Amino acid sequence: RGKKAFVAGVADDNGFGWAISKALSEAGAEVILGTWVPALNIFETSYRRGKFDESRKLSDGSMMTFSKIYPMDAVFDAMDDVPEDIATNKRYAGNEKWTVSEVAKCVEEDFGKIDVLVHSLANGPEVAKPLLETSRKGYLAAISASSYSNVSMIQHFGPLMNKGGAAISLTYLASEQIIPGYGGGMSSAKAALESDTRVLAYEAGRKWGIRVNTISAGPLGSRAAKAIGFIDKMINYSLSNAPLKEKPLEAIEIGNTAAFLCSPLASGITGATIYVDNGLNAMGLAE
Ligand code: NAI
Repeated sequence: RGKKAFVAGVADDNGFGWAISKALSEAGAEVILGTWVPALNIFETSYRRGKFDESRKLSDGSMMTFSKIYPMDAVFDAMDDVPEDIATNKRYAGNEKWTVSEVAKCVEEDFGKIDVLVHSLANGPEVAKPLLETSRKGYLAAISASSYSNVSMIQHFGPLMNKGGAAISLTYLASEQIIPGYGGGMSSAKAALESDTRVLAYEAGRKWGIRVNTISAGPLGSRAAKAIGFIDKMINYSLSNAPLKEKPLEAIEIGNTAAFLCSPLASGITGATIYVDNGLNAMGLAE
């Protein structure tokens, strides 16, 4: 039986979500997407116009396809939570059932049970501000979009996951070491995400028999990372200082690790933070 994966956080072909989808497709899984509502229209238009065709190519010559693309906003759990300005926002118009509980319900109706759940999304409106200048609102927004969104997804998708299934998310070293520039409470959000990975591994493992892990990824010049403003510096720092010196980190290396972690090959791994960063996390001091 082919495995079914729901991947949240794909809106172009540059990010980790796309690479994870590709690795899962290479491994024979069926991929279903949940794309942020305000990014959905442009993603679907670009997809239809063939903008991603080159990066859709799989090793057997076929093209990666998505069984369905749902609109989703992981900051809201149910329609009752949605404030008026979002409900009437024109970037949300024409879409419906995009809160986490509603998307989970739609996926169950359309596809039944799933095996793999991928959280590859984050948002911190004040990421460019140091923590000392971050507002309460900005900090809580970072936690809501980047950490609670994962808790919510596992709460709502857990009941429709097959036993032996696996959930994965993406984190960053700034959770545990000082990375100047990764502000707005995003470092705090990643610390919460990693801690939640352990607690959710226990709770969801006992409840549904699924595994929960997170990948601590090295720097990638994705759309989200460019918004932080210092990504080129981080990529260059990693190229000069990681144990695997001068080796660029490819998104597909994170994708392949995700596919491994979600496969039976990793049946004994849960609650773990796995580094895919050319080893940079292990360095104590630059050479
Ligand atoms: P990306 O821009 O490809 O992915 C982020 C996605 O999150 C976008 O598709 C965006 O539309 C979506 N999103 C934002 N708010 C959302 C919401 N409320 N509901 C649903 N979707 C929402 O960028 P990237 O870098 O691939 O990010 C994926 C994950 O990787 C994030 O968790 C990020 O923190 C993490 N990561 C990225 C690193 C990097 O250097 N790029 C390093 C380590 C971790």
